[in-house]
Amino acid sequence: MSTETTASAASSGNAATDRFRESGKTSSLTVDVERVNLLASKLIKAANDIVLEERVSYDEFNALKAWLIKVGADGEWPLFLDVWLEHSVEEVATDHREGNKGSIEGPYYVPEAPEQNSPATIQMRDDEKGTSLLFQGQVRSTDGSALPNAKIELWHADEEGFYSQFAPNIPEWNLRGTFIADAEGNFQINTMQPAPYQIPTDGACGQLIAAAGWHAWRPAHLHLKVSAPGFELLTAQLYFPGDEHNDDDIATAVKPELLLDIQPATEGTGVQTTYDFVLDPVAK
Ligand code: DHB
Ligand code: FE
Repeated sequence: MSTETTASAASSGNAATDRFRESGKTSSLTVDVERVNLLASKLIKAANDIVLEERVSYDEFNALKAWLIKVGADGEWPLFLDVWLEHSVEEVATDHREGNKGSIEGPYYVPEAPEQNSPATIQMRDDEKGTSLLFQGQVRSTDGSALPNAKIELWHADEEGFYSQFAPNIPEWNLRGTFIADAEGNFQINTMQPAPYQIPTDGACGQLIAAAGWHAWRPAHLHLKVSAPGFELLTAQLYFPGDEHNDDDIATAVKPELLLDIQPATEGTGVQTTYDFVLDPVAK
């Protein structure tokens, strides 16, 4: 790969930061003064306890300062928080659900991807590399009834582990799409199997990973948002059996319920998989 086409942490990090700013997630947001007091006090106390318990030195304190400054400069706060914290927030937000287990959204979601009715093929390059994947299933309610015209947003990395709109030289909506299920809630989407993904190694997060002797890998995954009027939005990731990082995902976002059953395609080349989604009705 040439240098110009290599994804850099600064470019994907800054794109993720800009995307978060534009997402509207913070536009009407206020957190109660009591909660800020409680949560900020607990966070500061936890950090002070570590300093005292581990007898943190000035060199270590200054290394931390320099590193925190670099996280911001590289635009990597979304990456850092989504890798090392979002999984717990997701757990708290969804542990009341009876339907599908979800998983973290991650930093690379883009709303309003082009919409198509199922069956459909996701947008991809004419020479898109990889193994064809037919992804099909049904969307149902926790009471077992089918959810007609449920919406399935799908986005994932390409065969080299890169996401469109965050790595350079990939068409805007490549491997991203919004799909409308049929009257029985069934969907069929043709795509390409994604590769395992390495979080950018040349920015602040990569520096931490190298300094701590960790690895930077997430297992290959499909990202999804599944929705229907009157039901809780399901944000999930689905994983491929046998991936060496399913058991040590850097983002701690794999759950056994999210592993796909991959079979050889019954028509054409590649593989296919069936996965049904069960949504919880919005509590009244
Ligand atoms: C990150 C990337 C992902 O694709 C993902 O699903 C979660 C986190 C990241 O780089 O932070
Ligand atoms: Fe991802």
